[in-house]
Amino acid sequence: MDKFYITTPIYYPSGKFHIGTAYTTVLADTIKRYKKLRGYDTYLLTGTDEHGQKIQTIAQNNGINPQQYVDQMADLAKELWEKMDIKYDDFIRTTEERHTKIVQDIFEKFIKKGDIYKGTYEGMYCVPCETYFTKTQLIDGKCPDCGREVKLMKEEAYFFNMKKYADKLMEAYENIDFITPEFRKTEMINNFIKPGLEDLCVSRTSFDWGIPVKSDPKHVVYVWLDALTNYLTALGYMSEDDTLFKKYWPADIQIVGKDIARFHLIYWPIFLMALDLPLPKKILVHNWIMMKDGKMSKSKGNVVYPELLINRYGLDATRYFLLREIPVVQDGIFSPEGFVERFNYDLCNDLGNLLNRTISMVNKYFDGIVPSYNGHKNDVDEELENTTQKQLEKIEEHIEKFEFANALSEIWNLIARTNKYIDETTPWVLDKNSETEKLQACMYHLIENLRKIGIVLLPFMTQTAQNLLKQIGIQEEQLKTWESLKGYNNIPTNTKVISKGEPLFMRLNVEEEVAYIKEGMKH
Ligand code: MSP
Repeated sequence: MDKFYITTPIYYPSGKFHIGTAYTTVLADTIKRYKKLRGYDTYLLTGTDEHGQKIQTIAQNNGINPQQYVDQMADLAKELWEKMDIKYDDFIRTTEERHTKIVQDIFEKFIKKGDIYKGTYEGMYCVPCETYFTKTQLIDGKCPDCGREVKLMKEEAYFFNMKKYADKLMEAYENIDFITPEFRKTEMINNFIKPGLEDLCVSRTSFDWGIPVKSDPKHVVYVWLDALTNYLTALGYMSEDDTLFKKYWPADIQIVGKDIARFHLIYWPIFLMALDLPLPKKILVHNWIMMKDGKMSKSKGNVVYPELLINRYGLDATRYFLLREIPVVQDGIFSPEGFVERFNYDLCNDLGNLLNRTISMVNKYFDGIVPSYNGHKNDVDEELENTTQKQLEKIEEHIEKFEFANALSEIWNLIARTNKYIDETTPWVLDKNSETEKLQACMYHLIENLRKIGIVLLPFMTQTAQNLLKQIGIQEEQLKTWESLKGYNNIPTNTKVISKGEPLFMRLNVEEEVAYIKEGMKH
């Protein structure tokens, strides 16, 4: 069985996790579920990035020590992923010994190799971002990432010799296609590599909430060198038991947001080269969820936490919105109106009605028993079969390219096409004219299309897809596989749909719900 190793970034536990962080994780989970359906031995890693000055300060402000603080936050993250049905295989915390010990060993290894050397650092430092900037990088004298004040700092520090690897990195960029989308690579070349890679300061002495450098413990390891190695340490790299590492490295896909592209597209490959390890096969850089008035921020009072949506509208409506509305390679917008509209149109009208109408017709005309496939098809059936096949191919192509918004849009085209088939075949007329054979073929095709829709929805809407399949009487696992999307002769005789369809989604009152979400965003 081929393996497939997927990673999310490890999250800063600096506050409650909002739908932005949830988005990265939902993407990863969707990929995992899809690959699993395709027969891969999958492994999904997520976790928390717990060191650094910012975390230390937040803990202090909360009157607890940093360890207590990150313990609470890691629990919160796990609870949220549980609530969101995220099927991770491991959750790594950078304060765990299995991680800290190896980070120390890696640091020493780099010192011995001459990749890390000691020098003096002077620069403009942004505390919240934990990043030094050169004067030219600042915008109006402020942090180019978050716009806050920076301060001049000087310290004895260790540096990683990035320059040594610059050519090798360019070679990798030219020869292996590991960055999606391609334009992120161009950005890295133009913004960072062409102007000349600076050596990276990889230790700090100004605070102590970090992993001490083993041979010089007044320094702690720079939070990004610490954090990036999680993708290896979680697999037991350089430990007594590296079975997982041998099996799963290199990662098949690493998912990161655009703000952390630089760390993953430049420093990360270079660290791997310095360790003589193969590069990940793909790094997928996704864009952001924005609000109508720009970035989500507490001060603007426009932050959306996943719980607000999940508790009232269900997990799948939330997952659906995130995956449908935010194209991976462009920013997408969250608005309460957009959310309610998608809920009512896509989920209630299109998907919900197709299921309900079909179930009630199978009950009415055939006492709930799905007619067997008799092989007789007229032009309308044939046309449905052909377009369905084409749609399924498009859906698969988009998923393979991680274009989930497009994949969902094509799934909804298939739903619309299937709804149209009901209007074309007018089963109520067939019934009135006692055209039983045609009516049987019609019900069979509807159920078979719903089964296919259920299967392609499995990676995206975890509970709805299962519920749909259950309602149409599909129980056996082999009828829920990707393989079983092929052909039309799949549903066994005597399959029985449930006697009364349960609505997958209940229509929302637009005004009330928009007001509800807006109110919730203030808290
Ligand atoms: N700790 C680092 C990652 C270290 S990985 C070795 C970090 N953490 S984070 O919590 O700030 O961000 C985690 C992820 O959430 C990033 O991929 C980031 O892009 C993503 N998002 C944060 N806000 C987002 C949106 N509004 N929309 C989509 N993704 C967003 O960075």
